Amino acid sequence: MAKKKITVVGAGHVGATTAQLLAYKKLGHVFIVDVLEGIPQGKALDLMESAPLENFDSRITGVNSYEQTANSDIVIITAGLARKPGMTREDLRDKNAGIVKSVCEEVIKYSPNCFMILVTNPLDTMTWVAKNVTGLDKHRICGMAGVLDSTRFRSFIAMELGVSNEDVHATVLGLHGNDMVPMPRYSSVAGIPLTELLSKEKIDELVDRTKKGGAEIVQLLKTGSAYYAPASSIVNMVESIVLEKNRIVPVAAYLEGEYGIDGIFMGVPVLLNWSGIEKVIELPLTDEENKALQSSAEAVRQSVAQLSI
Ligand code: 2OP
Repeated sequence: MAKKKITVVGAGHVGATTAQLLAYKKLGHVFIVDVLEGIPQGKALDLMESAPLENFDSRITGVNSYEQTANSDIVIITAGLARKPGMTREDLRDKNAGIVKSVCEEVIKYSPNCFMILVTNPLDTMTWVAKNVTGLDKHRICGMAGVLDSTRFRSFIAMELGVSNEDVHATVLGLHGNDMVPMPRYSSVAGIPLTELLSKEKIDELVDRTKKGGAEIVQLLKTGSAYYAPASSIVNMVESIVLEKNRIVPVAAYLEGEYGIDGIFMGVPVLLNWSGIEKVIELPLTDEENKALQSSAEAVRQSVAQLSI
């Protein structure tokens, strides 16, 4: 099978770690794009020099413009500013919207048939901007956040119970921010519902830590935000697409009536494969869960309405 062509826009920590994992997992040829001269080229060459030891044959190429990225199968947008301590993701909205807009105008000129994954924050709003700029079909564009928020929830559950991460499943819906909606009722350990294993107080504690998971890392790093778990989450999604795994994972998908929500991107479970977002899965929700999801949607609507581009 011919190798896929995967472009990562942004050679910062998230972009570079993503390129590394894509190569190590042999998912395709990787192009790293960044406006900073020398940075994408340097990181790409450094990664290529690890190839004999890591045993991969994909090419990794660093570039400052988009011509060479033409006909990419998958494009991952990580470009933009990251949070500093005390900032919310919303504080990045207007600056990052400008960056996402100009990046997407270039990407789509050269790769009109790509599948696009947005990572720039505020995630759900930036994915909306990208869809508007590129005109990509709703099956061909989404935001990465649900996989990250769920993996954080999974890791906290595994740490709390002292069990293997492998046995823990967790679901987080809604926007990527304080109003995200972790779903204990749809989370389990080796098939046992989480609600049978931990007290309500303990679950509430883990839910709260999950909602603040990104901020906890920003607070510790002080100079930027998380990148190992975000990069793993992106690559997990790419694996599902390239290897046609048909995984059901939460991503920020464009909603047209599902969950009673229309015209915005937000985290919901989808079936992900080579065709992209094949379909949105609608989970039955309790009144309380639905209320939380609707207020998450309202926060995304307000963010989109406040965009100044
Ligand atoms: C996070 O949650 C960067 O938003 C990303 O860490």
